Amino acid sequence: MIQKFYQRLWAIAGAVSVRTKILGIVLGFIVLLGAGVIIQSRYALTATMTEQLEEQSVSVSRDLAARAADPILLNDLLSLHDLLNETLANNPNVRYAFIVDPRGQVIAQTFEGGFPLDLLAMNSTHADEHHHTVLIQTDEGLVWDTAVPILDGKIGTARIGLSDASMQLALSKLTVQLLLTIILVSATGVLVAVFLTWILTRPILALVAATQAVAKGDFTPRVPRWADDEIGDLATAFNAMTEELAHTEELRREREGLRRQLMEKVIATQEDERRRIARELHDSTSQNLTSLIVGLRMMEAQCAHCASPTKAADLREVASHTLEEVHDLSMRLRPRVLDDLGLAAALERLAHEWQARYKIPVDVVIELEDRLPGEIETALYRIVQEALTNIARHAQAKSASILIEKRGGFVRAIVEDDGIGFDPSAQRGERHLGLLGMRERAELLGGTLIIESMPEHGASVFIEIPLLHPATFNLQPVTAP
Ligand SMILES: Nc1ncnc2c1ncn2[C@@H]1O[C@H](COP(=O)(O)OP(=O)(O)O)[C@@H](O)[C@H]1O
Ligand SMILES: [Mg+2]
Repeated sequence: MIQKFYQRLWAIAGAVSVRTKILGIVLGFIVLLGAGVIIQSRYALTATMTEQLEEQSVSVSRDLAARAADPILLNDLLSLHDLLNETLANNPNVRYAFIVDPRGQVIAQTFEGGFPLDLLAMNSTHADEHHHTVLIQTDEGLVWDTAVPILDGKIGTARIGLSDASMQLALSKLTVQLLLTIILVSATGVLVAVFLTWILTRPILALVAATQAVAKGDFTPRVPRWADDEIGDLATAFNAMTEELAHTEELRREREGLRRQLMEKVIATQEDERRRIARELHDSTSQNLTSLIVGLRMMEAQCAHCASPTKAADLREVASHTLEEVHDLSMRLRPRVLDDLGLAAALERLAHEWQARYKIPVDVVIELEDRLPGEIETALYRIVQEALTNIARHAQAKSASILIEKRGGFVRAIVEDDGIGFDPSAQRGERHLGLLGMRERAELLGGTLIIESMPEHGASVFIEIPLLHPATFNLQPVTAP
């Protein structure tokens, strides 16, 4: 319960800015202090003034009683009146005064608009009493009504009413003064708090801005060390951290660049090597095999009478078969047609052979007018080759399709199948180098490779490679034959 309340409070108070928090705390304390001081001082003032007023009321009425005895005995009503008026005039707090005879009749009074009769019953005194004071609530506030017997009550009672208006006035004056002081102190407090929060939050705001920049990958901002305190230490630590981050980032970039270069080199070397071996196989090995076949045929013909014509024929069969295999190997290593006739022709041939081998119909659409930069042609050829190999090995597809087109500054390729599909996000790790290699080739040329696939819904590989990428832009165009 308490925890919930605390949580809710913190949800509201915690959400405001530091500036508002500090201002709130300062103002809250000032207001609390002010309220306490006002209540305390009003209480103390009320207590002392009440005592004083009571004492005054007793002394004034006793004085009146003493001085009233003579005029009453002499039955001098005029003097009695004067006495009452004088009492009123001398004591501004006294609201009224009157004399009652022993039978309860008012013989002199100071009320201007007639005597309020119910006042009579509100206070009385006994002969042996020194005085008797009651507190009466009137329209004008509280009144201390004191009754004092005159000559032990034998000739009457003197009564006066002392109002607390002066006390109320003093109280409200005090309150107003205190309130003014509080407002003044609050204003000063707010100013001080604003200044303090400015000093305190300025470096924090700078830190926040710098941190946000760092979060976005910008490691250049440094925060100034405003003061030699904890926040200053934080700023220094932050700067050290950003420097370290920037350094690490630089190293990472350098390594990434090196890795890229290495990768490019490896791929280029691999292609060169393949090209060289393919050419070797074609030019030298195939030629040799062809000579062998021709030789064997001649041997067969010349040796019509010898015992081993069938042997020669068998050997020729083996040689022809090997020649075919060498041809095939050379093709797969690096089709000469890719260098000689370009991507379109090479892919048509690849698709044709693939279809024949795996008995899966493949639809090829290639919309390219000119030849592409050599690296792009090689990359696309290898990517499509790997995609087709995957379809044959994993997809169990009924058909496949290849689309290559040039659009804007990009060349796009899509290889699709209608097979069992797979989850591309799950294919990570060392075992699946095929997809990784495809992506690597595309990215080395500044392009992207996206695989879309859902189980039972086939797979599509989208490749997009910019034609004017720094990696390809300086390449010599492959001269058409
Ligand atoms: N066209 C496809 N249809 C279904 N599954 C595929 C397809 N292409 C790739 N895969 C799945 O993705 C995995 C990773 O492919 P790849 O990286 O080429 O590795 P590998 O072919 O050596 O297994 C494959 O093992 C296969 O499960
Ligand atoms: Mg594969």
